[in-house]
Amino acid sequence: MLNMAELIRAFHHDLRSVVGNIHAHIQYLLSDHAGPLTGAQRESLETAEFSLRRLALMTDNLAQSVREESLSLNHREPVDLEALAFSVVKAFQVSASHEGITLDFARSGEDPWVLGSELLLGRLADNLVSNALRYTPQGGRVCVTVRGEPEYVILEVRDTGIGIPPHEIPRVFARGHRTEAGREKSPEGIGIGLAISEEIASAHGARIEVESEVGKGSCFRVVFPA
Ligand SMILES: Nc1ncnc2c1ncn2[C@@H]1O[C@H](COP(=O)(O)OP(=O)(O)O)[C@@H](O)[C@H]1O
Ligand SMILES: [Mg+2]
Repeated sequence: MLNMAELIRAFHHDLRSVVGNIHAHIQYLLSDHAGPLTGAQRESLETAEFSLRRLALMTDNLAQSVREESLSLNHREPVDLEALAFSVVKAFQVSASHEGITLDFARSGEDPWVLGSELLLGRLADNLVSNALRYTPQGGRVCVTVRGEPEYVILEVRDTGIGIPPHEIPRVFARGHRTEAGREKSPEGIGIGLAISEEIASAHGARIEVESEVGKGSCFRVVFPA
């Protein structure tokens, strides 16, 4: 986690200076110092400048959340896993219904409190739910369950999606590894979500268990000590 944070900070720094350089050139052209611009040229440069601002903002936001995360790892607080998982489910509800997937939430047992970072646990839940939706075809179902047991608190994300072959299950946690069916279903993935999720789980003393059957679906279960 920390290595990755450092990497992102360095990347942010370098990207900022490249963005600054491109911006200076755009400003120079817009000032007409390099000769007069046609209306279409000006419009196109202004659009480029606007996109560049968005890029700068996005990288600033990324660097900011990395800063907050490394802070929040040192700062543990009681987190209500039910409220957190429910808010993630709510956030995905619209895109799930667009995809024609039923997204449910259930809670059982005792109060599911976990000691840790709300920000990181939110990312963990977010990763698992977004995977379940991404790797489930239209008409499928994703169910998020939070269970408080005497010795454990469990976050479970179950889907009726494409599944993972048995020999691939340990490998999907490796950075950059994607299954063949996963690549086919969703070409835009990059294969780091589960690696990050596993780091977040282990930073909270939790383990991730996976059950899956090809063509039937998968279940990712995060088991926290209560
Ligand atoms: N719920 C799931 N159902 C089927 N395959 C999954 C599921 N979650 C993850 N995978 C597989 O594990 C791989 C790694 O997942 P992840 O690290 O989140 O990266 P990404 O989603 O960007 O590909 C995916 O590419 C996919 O092959
Ligand atoms: Mg993913």
